[in-house]
Amino acid sequence: MSTVIVSQDELLRYNSLIPSLKNRVAALSSEHGHPMTYRVKTYGCQLNESDSEKIEGILQSIGLIEASEEAIPDFLILNTCTIRENADIRLFGNLGAYKTHKKQNRDMFIAVCGCMMKQQENIERIKKSFPFVDACFGPSDIHLLPQILDRKLGQRKRVFSVSEEDYLVDDTDVPVLRKRKFRALVPIMYGCNNFCTYCVVPYTRGRERSRSSEKILAQLRELAAEGYKEVMLLGQNVNSYGSDKEDEISFAALLEETAKIPGFSRIRFMTSHPKDISEEVIYTMKKYKNIERHLHLPMQSGSSDVLKRMNRHYDQEQYLKTALLFREVLPEATLTTDIIVGFPGETEEDFQQTLNVVEKVRFDSAFTFQYSRRPGTKAADYPDQIPQDVVTERFGRLLDLQNRLTFESNESVVGKTEEILIEGRSATAPDVLTGRTNSNRLVNFRIPEGISYQGKRIDTSAPDFNADDYEGKLAMVRITRAKPYSVEGELESFIDE
Ligand code: 5AD
Ligand code: SF4
Repeated sequence: MSTVIVSQDELLRYNSLIPSLKNRVAALSSEHGHPMTYRVKTYGCQLNESDSEKIEGILQSIGLIEASEEAIPDFLILNTCTIRENADIRLFGNLGAYKTHKKQNRDMFIAVCGCMMKQQENIERIKKSFPFVDACFGPSDIHLLPQILDRKLGQRKRVFSVSEEDYLVDDTDVPVLRKRKFRALVPIMYGCNNFCTYCVVPYTRGRERSRSSEKILAQLRELAAEGYKEVMLLGQNVNSYGSDKEDEISFAALLEETAKIPGFSRIRFMTSHPKDISEEVIYTMKKYKNIERHLHLPMQSGSSDVLKRMNRHYDQEQYLKTALLFREVLPEATLTTDIIVGFPGETEEDFQQTLNVVEKVRFDSAFTFQYSRRPGTKAADYPDQIPQDVVTERFGRLLDLQNRLTFESNESVVGKTEEILIEGRSATAPDVLTGRTNSNRLVNFRIPEGISYQGKRIDTSAPDFNADDYEGKLAMVRITRAKPYSVEGELESFIDE
């Protein structure tokens, strides 16, 4: 694999296919007697979500409109994830169902993309067992989508276009459809060089390639001017931003420059690697109030032995040093993590070390995973794979501990009034809104009687009340109750009327 920078000229060539694709889509719409629709189904991480926003941007540019939830779309794209085995199983489980859809609509276009497509055996399986799939492409091939569609719609042949190369296309040249009107996902780098021994990402997303800070900052200024309140700087390992380039600024400097842009009230970043995060990043967070009071710092294991075999390049002591420094510098912030249970060779003593560190750091929440053996990774061939019953038992103990800590963390903010960025209606009830605190805590809250917005009283029982109208607004919310994974509250006032 090698990094290939796609020039603007080359990209223009792909994008020049858009007008003729638009004509084809228009012809299909009149043939079928309705506008052609699409759906993009996204599995996995935020980088996949960001990729899907680009896919949707391209699909809309050729005249497709998003299918309603219950309708069968004319164009279906499945953006896959392969981080753990159950992600693979889910895709193949779901794929069969689309066969009947294709039978009903011969013109339906079905494509599978994303990380699973970088594994040859998955491509072979689709070639053989899922003949109704029209196209496959990889996670760094999104800019090729106009060409893929052109080949499929023109020649009616299946297109398998998964590149060996790690393409770097500047994001500002690709159409993007942002799914949330307040949040902009902005990748700052692609790929990963770390080769943690359990992880497939370096094989699926290739080597690290950083975008130019000049272009990132120009894009961010535009997004702020367009009114986005929240920006999420994305990369598999944001702390090593720029290290693949000669004269690039550090991640801490990029974060600081982002914080200086007027307009954003929430600057978030994902994901940090404990071996690369600098103290400067923590002090930059302290300096700028518009940087989220939250750090996600995947620990994976608390045992130095296991960390070594995971190829993480830090030990328990180093992890604790960073975590405790963060707690000291930003006591009001939340600290979250990822933990894998049952890595090959993990002893009861190793696992106890994990529990000890979790107790010491008191993570505000954690994503906990059972180790999943991924073909092609080093750890897949390690001896001493842990029996499932042992993994399940340890996983249960970790979950009990973390659930207690998460609940206690949620309890610690009850009675406080916090600034919330509203995300829209909650899943629980139509008159309950949902949002996040500046420390990324999920808050479900009601608007009590007597609250006004833009001079008008809000009546949540009125038929025209729609919680989604408040998406992207900032409000002060008093936290009234802790729940296991969220908190409840009551709105006190809006900030930015
Ligand atoms: N098994 C279990 N969890 C994994 N992760 C990555 N690879 C695996 C695997 N093979 C977890 C890590 C990572 C998160 C995104 O997914 O904890 O931080
Ligand atoms: Fe995977 Fe490790 Fe890279 Fe994260 S840092 S994507 S866990 S290889």
